[in-house]
Amino acid sequence: MLVFSGSKSAGLAKRVSEESRIKLGETELRKFTDGEFYIRILSGVKNENAVLINSVVDNESLVETLLLLDALRDNGAKRIDLFVPYMAYCRQDKVFKDGEALSAKTVLKLLGNFSDSITTLNAHFLDTYGRFEPWGVKLKNLDAFPLLAKHFAGRVRSPVVIAPDKGAMHYARNAAEIIGCESDYLEKTRVSDTDVRMKTKKLPVKGKDVIILDDIISTGGTMLKAAGMLRGAGAKTIDLGCVHGVFSKGTEMFGGVVDELVCTDSIERTESRVSVSGLIAGEIQK
Ligand code: R5P
Repeated sequence: MLVFSGSKSAGLAKRVSEESRIKLGETELRKFTDGEFYIRILSGVKNENAVLINSVVDNESLVETLLLLDALRDNGAKRIDLFVPYMAYCRQDKVFKDGEALSAKTVLKLLGNFSDSITTLNAHFLDTYGRFEPWGVKLKNLDAFPLLAKHFAGRVRSPVVIAPDKGAMHYARNAAEIIGCESDYLEKTRVSDTDVRMKTKKLPVKGKDVIILDDIISTGGTMLKAAGMLRGAGAKTIDLGCVHGVFSKGTEMFGGVVDELVCTDSIERTESRVSVSGLIAGEIQK
């Protein structure tokens, strides 16, 4: 068996290879001057099982992942298990307005067509750990919130975990159990893709060290609103944790507003102080 990676998860794949003691496969990945990818599998994969780890963070990494999968197959890989730590388009998981593309389904079907299994982390359209078959594609959803919880456990004196919306509440509750504290949620309404509204709610945060946990930080609008509201309600410190640090508008906006910002390496960032490598290595070994 060999572990391969695309350009979006090179560091993570190396850590997975070290932890699982499965050799890292070699590839040549570069771009032509017109922007097209050149992809070559350098390690022999004929009759081997291959694991490919690559987060699909944008349109380019989707194409890169598909090319890698197909090249592995063309080079004779027996079985290809795909790990997509972050899967873009997951939030377009419903037809909210007539005529819209159901993008999550399209992306999942594409990846499913080129691989034997797909494993992801905290896919937005699934809110529990386990095996699923969304739109007929077999998918395993792993949960990285316990890793975030372990990162925060024991760091602050008076913790409370807050979910920025009801959807993230059960993750927050589980994380709070690991940390050994209370949890609650805010009432959020999304106005547009860049704007959210939050209702004031009586929360037990006065003098507390608040840890706000969410699956994704994209524009940061949700977390900023939540942090502002909780600071206003008397929180002593505010730490933010998310599984997927998309940070489509950067992270500067959090400077001076929050005490700590942490994400996992499902997308490799400076703030990736929690690694999901053990979770993935464990899954491969199973
Ligand atoms: C939405 O339900 C998700 O769980 C996140 O709260 C959302 O994607 C965050 O987006 P943003 O950072 O753009 O507010």
